[in-house]
Amino acid sequence: VTTSAGNPERLVKLLKKRGICVLHVVPNSQAARKAELAGVDVVIAEGGESGGTLSPNDVSTLALVPMIVDCVKIPVVAAGGISDGRGFVAMLMMGAEGVQMGTRFIASLECIAHPRYKNVIVEARETDTLKIYPGPAPVRVLRTPFSDRLDRGKNPSVSEEEVRKALGSARLSFLEGDLNQGPLLSGQGCGIIQEISPVKVIVEDIINQAAKIMKTIHFDFIDSDGS
Ligand SMILES: Cc1cc2nc3c(=O)[nH]c(=O)nc-3n(C[C@H](O)[C@H](O)[C@H](O)COP(=O)(O)O)c2cc1C
Repeated sequence: VTTSAGNPERLVKLLKKRGICVLHVVPNSQAARKAELAGVDVVIAEGGESGGTLSPNDVSTLALVPMIVDCVKIPVVAAGGISDGRGFVAMLMMGAEGVQMGTRFIASLECIAHPRYKNVIVEARETDTLKIYPGPAPVRVLRTPFSDRLDRGKNPSVSEEEVRKALGSARLSFLEGDLNQGPLLSGQGCGIIQEISPVKVIVEDIINQAAKIMKTIHFDFIDSDGS
């Protein structure tokens, strides 16, 4: 089970009693230490590039993952802005045991999201997301005419209540493809995503790209005598 947002202590006790493995999402090293003390099996270090609800801390995945690897003994999974084999390898190099990817799998054939949502992800560049604020914790969404109106940078008068209401109607945009009725969640890694593919192909591509990079790194940095 994955838990997120806040101290997992109470839930961990319940889940561990039933022998369930618990992964907890953390946005900073203090939260990672707390989660480890609470008894979670794995922490997911999620940086500010991610799609969906974010921490107000806004630490990037690149800065966050090595910090968290250094401060806990349990395995670390990296999340946020990872959309292909390059991101996967980079996170392994930083000491993560694996990655969690959200945005990439929305643009998969099997995802129940509306094709219009998937197409907006494919067409988006890395600069095409913004953070909207239903409260202190922002939510990263794709820039669309609908979400543009909720951008506090452009419209400082937009209230948290308006943003909460807009997120409440996300079902219409997510599942029914009515982009004028709700926002579309996405991370900054949307820029790398070029096509809607079956999950099998996405995973195979990531593994193949990662394996190729690993070989190149070995070739470039390790001499033939292994030094
Ligand atoms: C549409 C969408 C819904 C999400 N819902 C949740 C959620 O309910 N709980 C949670 O902990 N993370 C949620 N996330 C975050 C993902 O689990 C994942 O950590 C994140 O998407 C990783 O960043 P990426 O989108 O750059 O790959 C969501 C992400 C997206 C894009």
